[in-house]
Amino acid sequence: MFASGAGSNFKSIFQHINSKNGAEFYLLSNNPQCGAVEFAINNQITIHTFSKEELQNPANCLANLTSISPDIIVLAGFLLKIPEHIVAAFPNKIINIHPALLPKFGGKGMYGKHVHQAVFDAKETETGITIHYVNEHYDEGNIIAQYKVALTPADTPEIIEQKVRALETEHYPKVIHQLLQQL
Ligand code: GAR
Repeated sequence: MFASGAGSNFKSIFQHINSKNGAEFYLLSNNPQCGAVEFAINNQITIHTFSKEELQNPANCLANLTSISPDIIVLAGFLLKIPEHIVAAFPNKIINIHPALLPKFGGKGMYGKHVHQAVFDAKETETGITIHYVNEHYDEGNIIAQYKVALTPADTPEIIEQKVRALETEHYPKVIHQLLQQL
C-alpha cells in the first residue's frame, strides 16, 4: 500500500483484511511523519520510505515493488502521482480511492479538502467516493465502484468530508478484499 496522510484508509483496510483471510502488508510512503507510517510501526508492517525524487527513480520504488511482487497495489491517501514506469509495470494492479464522484472533481490538485470545498462551492446535491484503477492520467483509470451520499444545503465542507470518510471506511476495505479474492 502507498499512503502519505493520516492513514484512516490504510488502517481500515489493514484491519478488515486481517479480520478475513489476512495478507502480507507493505507500506510505501514519502512521509515518514504521517499517521499511516506511525500505524505501520505499531503493527510491525514493513515500511519503505522514499523522497519525491526517489519515487521517480526506477532503481528505488520500482525495484522495491518488483522485489515485493505484490498481488495488488493500493493507494490509500497517497497524493503524489504514480510514475508511468510503475503504472506500466503493474497494469490493472494499482487501485486508488478518490473522495468524489469521478469524473467530477478529479485531476491535478484535486485531493482531500480541496475536493470537498469544490463540491461545496458547486452546490452539489450529492457526492461520494470512486474506487478506480490507476492509469497514467490523474483520476482517469477505469472505475471499479462508486458509492454516493446525499448532501443538504446546510452541509459545510467539513460535514461533506465526514460523510465521504464514512463511505471510505465502509466500502474501500470490502472492495479491496473482493479484488484479492478474485485473484
Ligand atoms: C482520503 O479522503 C482519500 O480519499 C483522499 O485523501 C484522504 C486521505 O485520508 N485521496 C485523494 O484525495 C486522492 N486524490 P487518509 O490518509 O486518512 O486515508
